[in-house]
Amino acid sequence: MSTSKKTDIKRVTTNVLQEMKIRGEKISMLTAYDYSLAQIVDASGIDVILVGDSASNVMAGHETTLPITLDQMIYHASSVVRAIQRCLVVVDLPFGTYQGNSKEALTSSIRIMKESGAHAVKLEGGSEIIESVKRILSAGIPVMGHLGLTPQSIYKFGTYVVRAKEEEEANKLINDALELEAAGCFAIVLEKIPSKLAKLVAEKISIPVIGIGAGNGVDGQVLVLHDMLGINKEFSPRFLRRYNDLYTSIKNSVENYIQDVKSKDFPNSKEQY
Ligand code: KIV
Repeated sequence: MSTSKKTDIKRVTTNVLQEMKIRGEKISMLTAYDYSLAQIVDASGIDVILVGDSASNVMAGHETTLPITLDQMIYHASSVVRAIQRCLVVVDLPFGTYQGNSKEALTSSIRIMKESGAHAVKLEGGSEIIESVKRILSAGIPVMGHLGLTPQSIYKFGTYVVRAKEEEEANKLINDALELEAAGCFAIVLEKIPSKLAKLVAEKISIPVIGIGAGNGVDGQVLVLHDMLGINKEFSPRFLRRYNDLYTSIKNSVENYIQDVKSKDFPNSKEQY
């Protein structure tokens, strides 16, 4: 008998991702923050949905990821979980809910797991947050790491440029990846680092490495859904491939609707009771 509540679809687990790395099958990951889009993304066959704290930017219009709260992340995550049947759902621990206090990190993670029904959490950082990572893992909660450009530390870096180009920072990143693997993380995101370095990390560690702006030598790719769908026109880094121009498509549709209302074309005789 299946353990899946909704269907008999084989669900993606952390073990499945590990097997994919071993087989050399690339892992696909996208963000989603709401029920309707998560349903489409899951039905398309995505392996992992990340309820990223990029929701702070794309959903709430903040300049950075810092303002989003734990309650808001849980709201987004629970909407996504209600929509999906197959993929693994990973949720970002937002800024200020895990750094420097492993007990708070565990409490925040337990709230995410209990209140949203998600399957794993993601934290930004390496050695600085390793105690938090270990404590969360000790409760049986799967943890995804995130190294390279870590947007929650934007005020420390001061810029969103490519990270770890210099040897010292690259060495720290490699050591952090090894430490996260040794602690028991099931995967690591590498954001905006040189592709050579990302490939080296993916070869050095046995857990899946998912890249964003990290080249194709890693085990999978992640993009922000709204960016790859072309809903956000302003954001166009080199690593972004746009698969649609929904900004134009939605704008045209809305303009046509307005025109139809104003001209009294909508509703017509068939569109009323
Ligand atoms: O919040 C987010 O969307 C992320 C991805 C960019 C990896 O962390």
